[in-house]
Amino acid sequence: MSARLLRGRVLSFRSRPQARDDHKSYLFEEDGAVLVENGRISACGVYDEIRLNSPLGVEVIDHRPLILMAGFIDPHIHFPQMQVTASYAANLLEWLNTYTFVEEQKFADAAHAARFARLFFDELLRHGTTTAAAYCSVHKGSADAFFTEATRRNLLMVGSKVMMDRNAPAALTDTAQSGYDDTKAVIAAWHGKGRNHVAITPRFAITSSPAQLEAAGTLAREHPDLLIQTHLSENNAEIAYTMELFPEAQDYTDVYARHGLLTRKMLLGHAIHLSDREMDAIADAGAVAVHCPTSNLFLGSGLFDLKRLKEHGVRTAIATDIGGGSSYSMLRTMDEAYKIQQLRNNRLPPLESFWQATRGNAEALGLVNQIGTLEPGTDADIIALDAGATPAMAIRMETVETLEEELFLLQTMGDDRAVRHVYVAGKAVQTRSATN
Ligand code: GUN
Ligand code: ZN
Repeated sequence: MSARLLRGRVLSFRSRPQARDDHKSYLFEEDGAVLVENGRISACGVYDEIRLNSPLGVEVIDHRPLILMAGFIDPHIHFPQMQVTASYAANLLEWLNTYTFVEEQKFADAAHAARFARLFFDELLRHGTTTAAAYCSVHKGSADAFFTEATRRNLLMVGSKVMMDRNAPAALTDTAQSGYDDTKAVIAAWHGKGRNHVAITPRFAITSSPAQLEAAGTLAREHPDLLIQTHLSENNAEIAYTMELFPEAQDYTDVYARHGLLTRKMLLGHAIHLSDREMDAIADAGAVAVHCPTSNLFLGSGLFDLKRLKEHGVRTAIATDIGGGSSYSMLRTMDEAYKIQQLRNNRLPPLESFWQATRGNAEALGLVNQIGTLEPGTDADIIALDAGATPAMAIRMETVETLEEELFLLQTMGDDRAVRHVYVAGKAVQTRSATN
């Protein structure tokens, strides 16, 4: 039995913070510790108490003054788009057709997919992201590469091949039947193997025929425990084209609802331009609106209406959307989310952002019993953050007095350099020495 005691300033969320100073919503111990045994957290709290009850000879790793918290979760990211990030385009549809659909064709090649699976997880871990919900390319082999590498690293990952049977290059389309068959094969090969979760992944309404959305709905009924991921109402031209393609639908959200896809398992990337009716329908279904701030700003898609979504009772998440997004860092992502809410005249406290990127995103994925907190019994996916990681951050840190201020500094100025240590299922996978 391997036991390890991580000592540090321990932060773990209990619930969504309701205000700037909602101290009941989290646990914070200045001299805290997390006891890790066999890949799981077995205790978390005050160092002296946890130390006393630790197994004899436990290895103690002192990470003070770093903040120990659950690894970040990125619930919307595209595995085949590492080389799409930073592509110059006027809007979503130009960006998709000019760069994205070209790049994703390369993932037909198994060696290319295997290489990028390694690079992809390297990059996620460097940024402290220990779980992601990812879109692979249309090719079944891209999902095999993704899960092969995730399994090798013992990562908890969600993903699958995208289903797309129209309005894309021929080399990047499946059919309603082959999309169904290949997704079935990915589920059979990978779901529940290691820490893997397969998600049913119709790309978006424009690239799926009604027959394919019907097949995706059949998959959802056959596998009600699986997540479903897609895009919704990201861009005005996208919405207009969708309504041309599905004239019988009352709105974009209804396209997915009509095919049995709007459920509590549904992750709706972007969800920017929504009517009150759509928000109510999404809330009633318990589906999740996934905010992708760096992508929404980069592609000029629009400003996520967090306040209205919350008023309608819609569950939310936050994600990078690489390669539409411009950073792998959930810290950079929180910063841009904050700025979007500033433009909407809405306050977004740092406590809420850190809750969202950890426990909140785990709740969105239905995985909070496994990841997203430092609760005993959950998997030991843990990061150690340094709010003084760069010279400029260290100078600003001299005047920081509260946890809230420190978190705000981390999200405003931090990036991968602030992620000093990463543990996956209790194993150290990433260590960065102080840059100051
Ligand atoms: N809509 C359909 N596909 C995509 C994609 O790859 N990225 C983004 N941002 N939006 C999409
Ligand atoms: Zn996306």
